[in-house]
Amino acid sequence: MKIVWKKVSDAQPGEVLADNVYDGSGFVVLLKAGTKLWDEGLELLKVRGVKFIPVCEGEFVEQSPVTENLIVPEAPEVIENYDDIVLSASEITSKLIQTGVLEFQKLQNVTNEIVENIARSSAKILNILRSHTRGFLFKHTVNVAIISVMISRELNWSRYNQILISQASLLHDIGLAFLGGFVFDLDTEDLRVRTHPILSVETLSKYTEMIPSSVVRSILEHHEHYDGSGYPMGIKGDALSEFSRILQVSDAFDTLTTKDLTGCSMSPYHALKWIVNRAGSYFDPVFVSAFISVTGIYPTGTSVCLSDGSRAVVLSPTKKRLQPVVMRDREIIDLSKGDHLWVTGIAS
Ligand SMILES: [Fe+2]
Ligand SMILES: [Fe+2]
Repeated sequence: MKIVWKKVSDAQPGEVLADNVYDGSGFVVLLKAGTKLWDEGLELLKVRGVKFIPVCEGEFVEQSPVTENLIVPEAPEVIENYDDIVLSASEITSKLIQTGVLEFQKLQNVTNEIVENIARSSAKILNILRSHTRGFLFKHTVNVAIISVMISRELNWSRYNQILISQASLLHDIGLAFLGGFVFDLDTEDLRVRTHPILSVETLSKYTEMIPSSVVRSILEHHEHYDGSGYPMGIKGDALSEFSRILQVSDAFDTLTTKDLTGCSMSPYHALKWIVNRAGSYFDPVFVSAFISVTGIYPTGTSVCLSDGSRAVVLSPTKKRLQPVVMRDREIIDLSKGDHLWVTGIAS
């Protein structure tokens, strides 16, 4: 099956979707992969602001969401003490939500720990793709922090700015907690949900002396798009801060690879593809490109075919893009250390 991206206005009834189609923010599946398009369906996509859709050329072949591959328990951790960091993040955010008190010193300790741990990690392993259901805000915010710090390191940001982007990541969705708890569908057509960046900033308003404006601004702008189609303000291009543009990429990747309430999620590979397809529209291409340097073209957790016909799961990228570190039959192999084996494509 070949996947062709078409403008919604050019798609015809009878054509079949090759992949899930999400609403403007990427949080809500509007039509599932394999759906045969019809007039009302196409109209729905137009009304919901979808501009491009993936359609099949040839017969539709289901590409499994590969959620089982997100769990790679034997792989080295990207950072030490992941569970402790999630616990600390949950204590900070719970206290902030319940009492309005921000334990700033504790926040600094956690953000320092994330930055230091990533600096110590020699391998660029993005093994944070735990199988958690969307709505478990704490793991999401920690994952976003880790990805954001990795992108900022790729761009040689100062340690100070890495700590700030980590702070912004841990606090960016705090406003969601005021919209019905931690588990709910992120329906971005729901105007209440669209207010959560503002609610997050309002929650932090009495701490503006401690939290730099760059952090507050990126929290406010984390659902904006590079082309101005995001929310809450529709800011675009260079008017968005660089912190915001990193946060948009890392937030999208963790959200897409996290199970939604129906248990569906995108594989890391498809989430990366989803983001790459929106470079220049939703996302600043500079930061998408830095993100690809972090993940490799086959991100951690992707099922791949090797040149000898066997299958493996990617653990981490290497400098040789087609020769990542993989796990095959519970054996970890660094393909870049030899010349005889490489990735030929993703396993369907
Ligand atoms: Fe958000
Ligand atoms: Fe988020």
